[in-house]
Amino acid sequence: MKLKPSLLLLLLTCTALSSKSHPNDETCLTSLKQSLKDPTNSLQNWTKPNFANPCSGFTSYLPGATCNNGRIYKLSLTNLALQGSISPFLSNCTNLQSLDLSSNSISGPLPTDLQYLVNLAVLNLSANSLEGEIPQQIAMCAYLNVIDLHENLLTGLIPQQLGLLVRLSAFDVSNNKLSGPIPASLGNRSANLPRFNATSFQGNKDLYGYPLPPMKSKSLSVLAIVGIGLGSGLASLVLSFAGVCIWLKISEQKMALEEGKITQLMPEY
Ligand SMILES: *[C@@H]1O[C@H](CO)[C@@H](O)[C@H](O)[C@H]1NC(C)=O
Ligand SMILES: *[C@@H]1O[C@H](CO)[C@@H](O)[C@H](O)[C@H]1NC(C)=O
Ligand SMILES: *[C@@H]1O[C@H](CO)[C@@H](O)[C@H](O)[C@H]1NC(C)=O
Ligand SMILES: *[C@@H]1O[C@H](CO)[C@@H](O)[C@H](O)[C@H]1NC(C)=O
Ligand SMILES: *[C@@H]1O[C@H](CO)[C@@H](O)[C@H](O)[C@H]1NC(C)=O
Repeated sequence: MKLKPSLLLLLLTCTALSSKSHPNDETCLTSLKQSLKDPTNSLQNWTKPNFANPCSGFTSYLPGATCNNGRIYKLSLTNLALQGSISPFLSNCTNLQSLDLSSNSISGPLPTDLQYLVNLAVLNLSANSLEGEIPQQIAMCAYLNVIDLHENLLTGLIPQQLGLLVRLSAFDVSNNKLSGPIPASLGNRSANLPRFNATSFQGNKDLYGYPLPPMKSKSLSVLAIVGIGLGSGLASLVLSFAGVCIWLKISEQKMALEEGKITQLMPEY
């Protein structure tokens, strides 16, 4: 029996699509499953046999994962009450273009190894409990279009290297614990690049600089603290001075009284 060329092509395509996963993807998915905690069992199909063969065409047996050419290229696990942390081995999913783990309760640091995801265009880790600093190495992911890290517990400075990401069209680090100056490479980008307004930076107590409004209230409160300090210092000085005066007055009166007694006791000559 001779197969029609089109049927042969279809068969070949099917074999290609159902082929075993790339070993790096398997490491990536296994490690991510291990590092995340899944109290509501949303990742129930994230099991060993499916890690070895996660792709069936464009769809995946792993809810939240999307495949392209037999490789994981999108991970979207949002609003699943996930806890735990992001495994550095996530970087073994080297074809990953989009990573969206937003609206969970993931903690721990943003792995520096994310820098090896050279195809990454979308990074959305917003509304989690991520801690530590934003690694400057993220700037190695040259195709990044979206960096959304709003509503986390991130600290430290915003790396100015992120300003090198010329494709960046969405950037949001609002409502974290970031500090220091906003790099001009992000706060005041050149005219031909998409610009980010104060909304991208607000809600970080110790972050300052354009496009955030000047920190009037802060300098006022500093003045107020200095004022209170000086005022209370002066007040205690006045009080202790008054105390000394009263004490002097009393002892003076006592002395006068004593003197009076003495003069009374003294026989008159
Ligand atoms: C879970 O994986 C199996 C293959 O191991 C697949 O047949 C099934 O459809 C998957 N379920 C979901 C909800 O993706
Ligand atoms: C997998 O990721 C780890 C952590 O980033 C790295 O050390 C290792 O070299 C990677 N393995 C491969 C095959 O890329
Ligand atoms: C990131 O995810 C959140 C929640 O899923 C969504 O509201 C937000 O629009 C996303 N950010 C971007 C830049 O698409
Ligand atoms: C923004 O950059 C332009 C051009 O480099 C400069 O003239 C301007 O003063 C900057 N604005 C702020 C608020 O830093
Ligand atoms: C800030 O930019 C966002 C889009 O990035 C837009 O939706 C919002 O209206 C802007 N806010 C102001 C105050 O310009």
